[in-house]
Amino acid sequence: MENQMEKIVSLAKRRGFIFPGSEIYGGLAGTWDLGPLGAELAHNIKELWWNHFVRNHEEMYGLASSILMPERVWEASGHLEGFADPLVECKKCKKRFRQDELSGNSVSTWKPSSQVKCPECGGELGEPKQFNLMFKFGDAYLRPEIAQGMFVNFKNVLDTMRPALPFGIAQIGKAFRNEIAPRDFLFRVREFDLMEFEYFVKESQWEENFEKWRKEMWAWVEKVGIDKNKTHELEVPKEDRAHYSKRTIDFEFEYPFGKKELYGLAYRGDYDLTRHMEHSGVDTRYADSVSGEKFIPHVIEPTFGLGRTMLAVLLSAYSEDELGGEKRILLKLNPKIAPVTAAVFPLVKNKPDLVAKAREIYTALKKEIPNTAFDDNGNIGKRYRRQDEIGTPWCVTIDYQTLEDDTVTIRARDTGKQERHKISKLDEYFKEMLK
Ligand code: GAP
Repeated sequence: MENQMEKIVSLAKRRGFIFPGSEIYGGLAGTWDLGPLGAELAHNIKELWWNHFVRNHEEMYGLASSILMPERVWEASGHLEGFADPLVECKKCKKRFRQDELSGNSVSTWKPSSQVKCPECGGELGEPKQFNLMFKFGDAYLRPEIAQGMFVNFKNVLDTMRPALPFGIAQIGKAFRNEIAPRDFLFRVREFDLMEFEYFVKESQWEENFEKWRKEMWAWVEKVGIDKNKTHELEVPKEDRAHYSKRTIDFEFEYPFGKKELYGLAYRGDYDLTRHMEHSGVDTRYADSVSGEKFIPHVIEPTFGLGRTMLAVLLSAYSEDELGGEKRILLKLNPKIAPVTAAVFPLVKNKPDLVAKAREIYTALKKEIPNTAFDDNGNIGKRYRRQDEIGTPWCVTIDYQTLEDDTVTIRARDTGKQERHKISKLDEYFKEMLK
């Protein structure tokens, strides 16, 4: 029987959400391309995140820094030295593995490699070595995390916006990691989008702010439509934490391939700003406006992978049920992130007056609700099924009664229930429902 992961990958491909990267050339490991519906879904999630974490907070400042950053940044951040995974190569088939995944344990409890054989060919494994995950690009590096853009611009934001502590700098953007073994669809890739912010606080206030953002992260999980019963916190032990972190909580999700990291919440202390001050020679301290005291703020960092969000959202939304005696697949997406908000149909395709009326309603509605689609392919039942499968929350059908009284039916995805509404009130109805 097909497992849930296969169903999601197949739906994503079949319906234009996600395609293998460079597919017609045989694909490139660790890359996936977003199709028309995936691009809309990603865009909607990013916008929802930006509203939730940036625009809703007076003390949050947006940023969009460069992907390319010079070696000196990564020397200062510690990535040149410490951003590595333990790699083990099979002596026989030459396949490469992450040591921690071979043992099924954390790095700290790794057994000698002689006890573990190559999972591909049963051959003997070589000794583990540290493999740096950064991609070099000419004189620079493709950023492996977007956080450094926020630290490097800390002084610029201070000088231009004059914020008072606590405040945050947020951005959404691409990160690149030369993962040893990309796998599990969008879960581990080599190129991915991050949504992240650095929240600068006085040292004495780090714990209360850590708590504040822990709660906000849960609010986000619920808002975006990730099953919170399948999401769990993990207090990451010291030996497994990133080199900069004094405390980390991972938000883990129960993926079909195991319970693994979805998001992270880290207390980075004053590590990054101190290192950049030392390495660049530029004073990155904050001056308290009342006491005049100069000091380096401490940092709380909530981080969110966009691909893992999409995967957890799709897995949480995927359902199969029976409606009117027929089996169907549906994605119970939050209407705010659904690629299509409303699909407008003429009841039948071969009645020009119905089609013309449907087009007129579609054109008017699209001006108010941009993610409105028009569909007149196949019979009405098929069109409903197709829209259910991509998570469209509402279908608007134009029938013979429409031509007489200017009403349409609105069908709700999850229940299949239909109600009649006035055409003149359609955009108001959807705006109300999207609130
Ligand atoms: N600035 C902190 C930082 O980058 P991280 O835990 O290394 O922390 C942040 O990565 C998030 O990026 C993770 O919580 C996860 O959602 C996502 N992520 C990390 N590596 C990934 C990969 N290879 N493929 C897809 N998403 C990844």
